[in-house]
Amino acid sequence: MTSSTPTDIAKSRIDQLSQELNAHNHRYYVENNPIISDTEFDLLLKELEALENEFPQFADSNSPTKRVGGDITDKFEKVAHKRPMLSLSNSYNREEIAEWAERLYKSVDTDIEFVMELKYDGVAISLHYEDGKFMRGITRGDGSVGEDVSSNIRTIRSIPLQLKGNYPASFEIRGEIFLPKKVFTQLNEERAAAGEELYANPRNTASGTLKQQDSKEVAKRKLDCYLYYVLGENLPYNDHFQSVEHAADWGFKVPSSKDRLIEKANSVDGVMNYIEYWDKHRHDLPFEIDGVVIKVNKFALWDELGMTAKSPRWAIAYKFKAETVSTKLNKITYQVGRTGAITPVANLQPVQLAGTTVKRASLHNADQIEKLDIREGDTVLVEKGGEIIPKVVGVVTEQRDMFSTPHQYITKCPECGTELIRKEGEAQHYCPNDATCPPQIKGRMEHFISRKAMNIEGLGTETISGLFEKGLIKNPADIYDLQYDQLLGLEFQVGDELLGDLKKRSLQAKSVTNMLEGIQLSKQIPFERVLFALGIRFVGETVAKKLAKHFKNIDAIEAATNEQLLEADEIGEKIASSIQDYFSLEENRTIIRRLKDAGLQFHVDESQSGPTSEKLKGLTFVVSGVFQNFSRDSIKESIESHGGKISGSISSKTSYVLAGDDMGPSKRKKAEDLGVKIITEEEYLHLVTNDK
Ligand code: IVH
Repeated sequence: MTSSTPTDIAKSRIDQLSQELNAHNHRYYVENNPIISDTEFDLLLKELEALENEFPQFADSNSPTKRVGGDITDKFEKVAHKRPMLSLSNSYNREEIAEWAERLYKSVDTDIEFVMELKYDGVAISLHYEDGKFMRGITRGDGSVGEDVSSNIRTIRSIPLQLKGNYPASFEIRGEIFLPKKVFTQLNEERAAAGEELYANPRNTASGTLKQQDSKEVAKRKLDCYLYYVLGENLPYNDHFQSVEHAADWGFKVPSSKDRLIEKANSVDGVMNYIEYWDKHRHDLPFEIDGVVIKVNKFALWDELGMTAKSPRWAIAYKFKAETVSTKLNKITYQVGRTGAITPVANLQPVQLAGTTVKRASLHNADQIEKLDIREGDTVLVEKGGEIIPKVVGVVTEQRDMFSTPHQYITKCPECGTELIRKEGEAQHYCPNDATCPPQIKGRMEHFISRKAMNIEGLGTETISGLFEKGLIKNPADIYDLQYDQLLGLEFQVGDELLGDLKKRSLQAKSVTNMLEGIQLSKQIPFERVLFALGIRFVGETVAKKLAKHFKNIDAIEAATNEQLLEADEIGEKIASSIQDYFSLEENRTIIRRLKDAGLQFHVDESQSGPTSEKLKGLTFVVSGVFQNFSRDSIKESIESHGGKISGSISSKTSYVLAGDDMGPSKRKKAEDLGVKIITEEEYLHLVTNDK
């Protein structure tokens, strides 16, 4: 037998791991049907990473390890498109579609098969492949010249870097990159929690993300991509529908006819049926669309029909009507956020829009009100576009009362009367009175207890409001001083006073016990979450994690100089100075001291430096699902830090299955069949908190 060198072995293992990881990636991100757990995937990825580090000669620019980003691009290279990226002509009603079809019938004199697809509201992209390998990804740019954003494209998990099956040797494929609605909402929740300005809509956010210079940041954003247009010479099929089906076999995420993302029709009636279906159901999709694209199916007809200067004749877009209604603007009120930011709100005569009743809409800021000259009493146009919150987009001036006068923006805080400030270059006004302005105080406490922060079970925003009104709590530290007797029977008002919907609520024994237990359990919440919960401006979840990792404990963060703060990953001037402002205030330092005394975690639990307890010694856990208080990794770290062991699969040796949300039914069944106890996250916290 010829002996293989260690290098040969490494090479073949690298190839094998890459192949396996690509296949799992495809199953997860394209087929939505993974067969291994995230942990198993991570293990394979780590192994590959280690091998690539040891044998850099085999590291490939399309390796699955590139998905996490790392490359920084100073300036994206400009690249001319081989074939221009055209746009589509638009249509808005049946007549326009029928006229388009009529023109086609006249020019080609045959029956025509149409293909309908969704018009994804994202960013167009052109991807190039050679011999099954991803070569480059180029943005549309001006249609003739785009920018090479390949390193960012590699982080989009649903875009294959290595194709499978019987793909053409060289081709281009185009599609649309988008940010799923859920990811967009989460991102904005995080920004709101960090006191940052919100992103306007998923499309702009996707477009901004794709042009970020640090591909690691792009990797975090969870962009997705549908491909819908294959271009190349001598493609092995003769119509568009087939080309899309083939592209699926090569590993691309393409629209599927199973869920009507693509469909064929032989008549304008058939086309309209598809359009009407999606006009009705578009809000159920996990991503934004702004219409439907109708294409002629046969390639032979594409050549025959040709193009106009801007768009091909063989395709047309049908744009859904922007969902706009007009209604009366009764009053402009102002909300004060936990950071003191003032948001003007339009209180409207309730109106139906995109399936919901709208009573309020955002007016953004003073400039917006002035620009549109929005006045109380006006009939305004309200739109629900890509944005989640409806917005006022215009005024029907013809219907304006002749005595109306321009709206005067407030100069004092509506809640505490303090003179508002507006910093140079910022659109928002602020109330600087963070010490005693009630919504700011309440807002900080609401943030503190929120799900991603301390996640205190049994304590919600309404209770926080009630306890604050009663004078029982003024800051997060007060929460840990609450006593059973103070709370029992306590009555307070809940509900929206504006609507006259006054309800009284009284805290019963069970809710008090739950609340106090939730407060106790929150003392186990890891340092990074406590740091986020403090609500330091610009310190969102991610920044809190980075700070915790770098500084290890709160004292080090407090003591850090500006330069030292800047040394931590992702901390820039803005965040550093906000942290220093926070610690410069005596009140904040006192709150932290009291929270420390109450037993909250103010340093990283260094599980590597040995177990912090032996409570789980001899026990083996299988962890499955999604958790409220922990990431999957951090709950595992927690188990290990208490002396427990982790196993990837359930067997008779498993002591507990720790089940989060979305645990798969097959795992549950296996545990039940083997008689292994399934425990919840809460039960787990009890296991490690209770002294036994
Ligand atoms: S086909 C020649 N199909 O709409 C153009 N485009 O205004 C061929 N778009 O730039 C494009 N969904 O970014 C096509 N299913 C779809 C689409 C789609 C969205 C975008 C694309 C294009 C723009 C045209």
